[in-house]
Amino acid sequence: MTETEIIEVVKSNMGAKRFSHTEGCVKMAEKLAVRWGADVALARRAAWLHDITKEMPYEHQLQLVDRHGIILSRTQKSEKIIHAFSGAAMAQHQLGEGEEVCGAIRWHTTARCGMTLLEKIIWLADLTEEGRTFDGVEKIRALASESLSDALICGFDMTLSVLINRGSEIDANMIEARNFELALRR
Ligand SMILES: [Fe+2]
Ligand SMILES: [Fe+2]
Repeated sequence: MTETEIIEVVKSNMGAKRFSHTEGCVKMAEKLAVRWGADVALARRAAWLHDITKEMPYEHQLQLVDRHGIILSRTQKSEKIIHAFSGAAMAQHQLGEGEEVCGAIRWHTTARCGMTLLEKIIWLADLTEEGRTFDGVEKIRALASESLSDALICGFDMTLSVLINRGSEIDANMIEARNFELALRR
């Protein structure tokens, strides 16, 4: 698919607010890809598609992952996380995207231990695109142009404290992603 065709699919699958978040994410993903030497075209495709199923009814998302034999943990099946997996399944099986783009979609919410460069870029682009205004976002944005690893750790720390303060469950992949980045510093 061309990028123009992808944008049409994205537009038809979400409302204006999420489309605008997606556009911000594409801009930030491109910026980070240029800064860190990742493939800009793949970064843009992954960013366009990262929330492609977020507005799909939950039951449909479950059917989509089931149909492709994807086994999810209980936390991965949660309302906030499942769209990463259903989105990767749609990108792979319905839109014909390759594994690099699909991996970046799959791990854009929880992250995981040993992320690829593209996966890191999409995780950070989603968190720090220009529409994000939470306390501390400027700090992560600044770190992202200095050190991807520092930006990720800071992003994990902020995300985890929000989840803890809300009393929410935490997917183990994010803990493992943080441990992995911390270990690289030693
Ligand atoms: Fe998302
Ligand atoms: Fe997003």
